[in-house]
Amino acid sequence: MEQFVLSFRKDISLIEEPEGEQVILQSPDCKLTFKQVTSGLRTALNILVTKGATAQQLMDLVQQSDRIVGKLKWFYHLQKFSELGWLCHSVFIDDIPLAIAIPIASDNQFPARDVDIQCQYTLSRFAYCHQVEQQMVLESPLSQAKVILPNWRSAALVAKLAKPQNCHNLATEISGITEEIAQQFVALLLNTQMLSQVQQNGTLEEAENITLAQWEFHDLLFHTRSRKGRHNNPAGGTYRFLGKIETLPAVKPKMSADSIDLYKPDLETLKAVDPPFTSVLEQRTSIRNYGQTSLNAQQLGEFLYRSARVRTLIKMEPAQISSRPYPCGGAIYELEIYLVVNICEDIPSGLYHYAPEAHQLCWLSGKTDHVEELLKGASQSTGSPDPPQVLMIIASRFQRLAWKYESIAYATMLKHVGVLYQTMYLVATAMDLAPCALGYGDSDLFAKAVGTNYYAETSIGEFILGSKDPNYQES
Ligand SMILES: Cc1cc2nc3c(=O)[nH]c(=O)nc-3n(C[C@H](O)[C@H](O)[C@H](O)COP(=O)(O)O)c2cc1C
Repeated sequence: MEQFVLSFRKDISLIEEPEGEQVILQSPDCKLTFKQVTSGLRTALNILVTKGATAQQLMDLVQQSDRIVGKLKWFYHLQKFSELGWLCHSVFIDDIPLAIAIPIASDNQFPARDVDIQCQYTLSRFAYCHQVEQQMVLESPLSQAKVILPNWRSAALVAKLAKPQNCHNLATEISGITEEIAQQFVALLLNTQMLSQVQQNGTLEEAENITLAQWEFHDLLFHTRSRKGRHNNPAGGTYRFLGKIETLPAVKPKMSADSIDLYKPDLETLKAVDPPFTSVLEQRTSIRNYGQTSLNAQQLGEFLYRSARVRTLIKMEPAQISSRPYPCGGAIYELEIYLVVNICEDIPSGLYHYAPEAHQLCWLSGKTDHVEELLKGASQSTGSPDPPQVLMIIASRFQRLAWKYESIAYATMLKHVGVLYQTMYLVATAMDLAPCALGYGDSDLFAKAVGTNYYAETSIGEFILGSKDPNYQES
């Protein structure tokens, strides 16, 4: 029989109606009402909301006062609590908690896998420790629970498990830990997918799984925490900073007074002369080499106007929003476009910020070493001998979106980069230019080149543009 101490999550409360036979269990999102509560059940529920007890102790207690029918009902209730993700499992050492597994998903599974005293176990490469509200917490994107490590011995056990260990080793090397406690601790981490078992041939169960092997730690963590299902963090438009921190403006203030007014095309004329939508869609392709004659200021103006200008500003509470040619979650528009102009007729080479409301390029610097490095990085990404004529660097004013959205802010920004890329591709194709998205850029270098605070605004995408060679043939 497992020795884990079972208790309810701290956010589950028991409401006992005075002199009534009814008790209510209340979680933040669900309520269970128990009518005609027997004394055994009432006591067991009270234990679960306070110090907890092992499954065996709870069962004995219920059976003692409620007999066999009460025991059967208790199994049913316990199963329900488990399905709701209400039950914590703890390991204690001398009445002090050593590890507490708290469910973070409603269909939390605690499979009760056995721990063989001879077997070796090691920490999953997906498990990580961090400090949350002054507690050390072990989490993993593979797990539907988080494990609180409230004790120096728990941290020492986790540190030891960075290398394969059996329970005997753990007990020998950490004072105060018996083999039995080590076994319970390992079982708790194994049941919460924090550990992987070392096979007889020396390989790890986890590494042999070819699906998992192809996930990197940061990607899987980002995926699980920015989608519903495997966590219970607040998510969506929660406005958690409303009334505490001012939101950023809908349009970033112009970054310099030294600006170039850009050409504005006549949209009515374009509607009449543009190639049909399907031919634009079908001709769209990534082009990494350019014509003899470079892009010019009029083309760059038209391209930016059609892809990314502010169409209108919209007054809205609690924050102003805008309308632009590409879509954006909440119409918040956190993305900024910076341009490294390498060669563009009638526009001096250098680094600019695109002011989307004024439809201007604001001069930031000439081709400094940092700017040259940004261009070099873009050239390397394409593998083409032609350096980009214009490199567009898409940066995010992170807090503009994170002020409203929780759990999904960064994932949403990357989606915005995608929709902006496609808008740019289609506009460039309709204009017979040479576009190409890039997959990787240096955000630290960008922050240095522009002088932004990396955590407030830096690059999250790159796109290159140039003139199309009239003899261009798709290979
Ligand atoms: C997100 C993303 C990242 C990309 N990264 C690069 C890149 O770093 N270098 C490059 O030469 N092309 C890059 N491309 C262009 C793709 O290679 C190209 O879209 C793909 O080969 C399909 O060809 P097509 O665009 O001509 O249809 C990228 C495209 C996207 C959408």
